Amino acid sequence: MTETPVRYSREGDVALICIDNPPVNAIGQAVRTGLVASIDAFAGDPAAKIAVLYCAGRTFVAGADIREFGKPPQAPFLPDVIGKLEALDKPVLCVMHGTALGGGLELALGAHYRLGVPGLKIGLPETSLGILPGAGGTQRLPRLTGLEAALEMITSARHVPAKEALALGVIDGLADAGQDPLTAGLAHAHDLLAKGAGPRRICDMPAPSIAPDQLRDMRTRTAKRFAGQIAQLTAIDAAVGGAALPFRDGMQHERALFQTLMESPQRAALVHAFLAERKVAQLPELAGIAPRAFAQIGVVGGGRMGSGIAISALLAGLDVTLVERDAQAAAQAHQNVAQTLADSVKRGKLTDEGRARILAHQFRAADSYAALSDRDVVIEAVFEDMDIKREVFTQLDQHCKQGAILATNTSYLDIPQIAAMTSRPADVLGLHFFSPAHIMRLLEIVVPDKTGADVVATGFAFGKKLGKVSVRAGVCDGFIGNRILQVYRAVSDHMVLAGASPYAVDRAVTEFGFPMGPYAVQDLAGLDIGFMTRQRKAASRDPREFVARWADVMHARGWHGRKTGQGYYSYDADHPKGRPSPEVEEIIADERRAHGVTPREFSADEIVARYMAAMVNESARVVGEGIAARPLDVDVTLLHGYGFPRWRGGPMHWADAQGLGALLSQIEGFAREDAFFWQPAPLLQQLVRENLSFASLNS
Ligand code: 3HC
Ligand code: NAI
Repeated sequence: MTETPVRYSREGDVALICIDNPPVNAIGQAVRTGLVASIDAFAGDPAAKIAVLYCAGRTFVAGADIREFGKPPQAPFLPDVIGKLEALDKPVLCVMHGTALGGGLELALGAHYRLGVPGLKIGLPETSLGILPGAGGTQRLPRLTGLEAALEMITSARHVPAKEALALGVIDGLADAGQDPLTAGLAHAHDLLAKGAGPRRICDMPAPSIAPDQLRDMRTRTAKRFAGQIAQLTAIDAAVGGAALPFRDGMQHERALFQTLMESPQRAALVHAFLAERKVAQLPELAGIAPRAFAQIGVVGGGRMGSGIAISALLAGLDVTLVERDAQAAAQAHQNVAQTLADSVKRGKLTDEGRARILAHQFRAADSYAALSDRDVVIEAVFEDMDIKREVFTQLDQHCKQGAILATNTSYLDIPQIAAMTSRPADVLGLHFFSPAHIMRLLEIVVPDKTGADVVATGFAFGKKLGKVSVRAGVCDGFIGNRILQVYRAVSDHMVLAGASPYAVDRAVTEFGFPMGPYAVQDLAGLDIGFMTRQRKAASRDPREFVARWADVMHARGWHGRKTGQGYYSYDADHPKGRPSPEVEEIIADERRAHGVTPREFSADEIVARYMAAMVNESARVVGEGIAARPLDVDVTLLHGYGFPRWRGGPMHWADAQGLGALLSQIEGFAREDAFFWQPAPLLQQLVRENLSFASLNS
């Protein structure tokens, strides 16, 4: 990198403006200043007839510099820089490669011509960060594509592939395959000069309009899809409002709305989520530690999780051998994997040739552990039973090569105990996937004390290869996510015992932003899973702990949730998502009577307050005990594995936003009713005493 991240030079009559600001050429203040200097240099260079604006490195500009958000804005401002570029009286060609996102695409829209390098993706993903395109994106893009297409791009925040960008008219053409941005830009600039092309400014193009009923439909759809969020609807207001105004006024309108969103808690939460999910893999213990090889993967067990893990690895290009307990089960597992790959083709995630190649060359199912002797990493996903795990790990220890990593996907079992079944505990760790494993992005990497640092580093490298968001977790019952889940499920049961209906709890929680409430989730997962967990924990349970017996009654009646047509909800053809069940309410009422409880009303606010207080309190314990390395690791776990609304940032970020003092007082208030359940987490008490936030522990 040079001193300034923007270089100006000239080749013949073509000026070259190159942004070189690794890793993703984000536009921070230094880039903005450099751009202004280069624009002035071009304007004042009589030998330069046209300018080519492009980027060095792996991508075009990925947007404004997110790390500047929330700090006092520093001149020059991006809309002004782009306005200055557009106003030039000599033409500017922008060549984009990699991803041109947010302020990056807005910069390109300020140029007069746009060329894409094959593989380019463009987008205005600002709404996914809780803001709107604030450097002319809501004003210039609709002038090129029409309002409907532009607003679809802006509200969905999606990355649009080059061919679609060409069809939409956002780029004028595509460079030849294999051409780098500079070579392509020079060739195209000479063509433009030969044609006598002059500046072609989007701001001079007519503003588009949209029919009122179409706009109404769009607003309704958007409000439903992004319930609770403000950025998407505000972006529609910016574009539609701006289109009715002269360009300059439209820009000011956009800016004013952008500033409002920039100040919003949703922006803070979404930016936190973006940065946190990148920070989870940055752990001091892994600095400078090289991962082991992981090209050859073994999976033991081809049921729900094993086949999903196999598919995830196959889709990432890895070689997979899956071992089942006998030839018939192996054939079944092979069929499960083949079927899911075929579904991936239908969903457009894989080509048919890709599917055939995977089945011919990358994947095999076997019934003997000897088939795993050449594997670098083996992941066990057999029944959740310590005796069966013992049998499997004894076999793995015998058959796997030295240096192979042995991982378990167990949800709750004690991983150090599993490691101790082998002669190589330093090579054992937990790789806890979520169901369906080829779709859910969360991977908890569970690290017993004896596990080698290079084994942990391999877990992270493997997770990255699979496109997962990997979070380090320590050993405890349920690791990070399931441990916290057990507590917020328990508080739900407490509220139901006291008088809330399970449906009121689900409703309040979904209104808060979770896609499903705790009872609907249990129906989906199967009530037999909860039953087995209760059985497993029965012997070690503290007698003061409340256990909902209604769940056992439901289980005994064969009501195992959706798969049996009856759980907390009743499911039938008319109610595929379930309807409340009076019989369930009757069973619960019986239990209230048995406890001598007179049911009382719960408002949605009270339900959410207790649900969240329990979640935050347990999260604080998880951090305090070192099970999660930092509060941000809890946030990312809950965001990616448990449906926590991203625009609220995760439980720890949410707690900071509420104020930890107020939350602690609330918990202390609840503790006066039930001192056993509501014991305040020591870390929460400490932070309140020291007037600190969870965020202060993230760096
Ligand atoms: N600003 C600052 N840093 C950024 C950044 C940005 N816009 N985009 C990415 N980075 C950083 C990441 O935090 C990461 O840093 P780290 O190595 O310290 O963790 C590094 O660049 C590499 O990023 P990724 O790990 O995400 O790399 P990938 O190759 O997986 O993905 C990407 C690249 C697709 C560009 C992805 O980073 C991305 O989606 N970036 C955000 C794009 C975006 O939302 N742009 C809009 C910004 S808001 C805006 O432009 C406002 C304007 O309208 C005024
Ligand atoms: P499953 O019952 O769908 O599959 C288990 C598979 O293991 C079966 O196909 C069975 O034939 C096979 N198996 C049993 N003993 C074997 C042996 N000795 N050798 C080879 N294969 C053997 O179970 P599921 O749901 O896939 O769970 C597997 C593991 O993953 C469990 O430890 C579970 O706790 C964990 N897990 C489950 C999640 C879920 O949502 N289902 C989520 C995360 C983890």
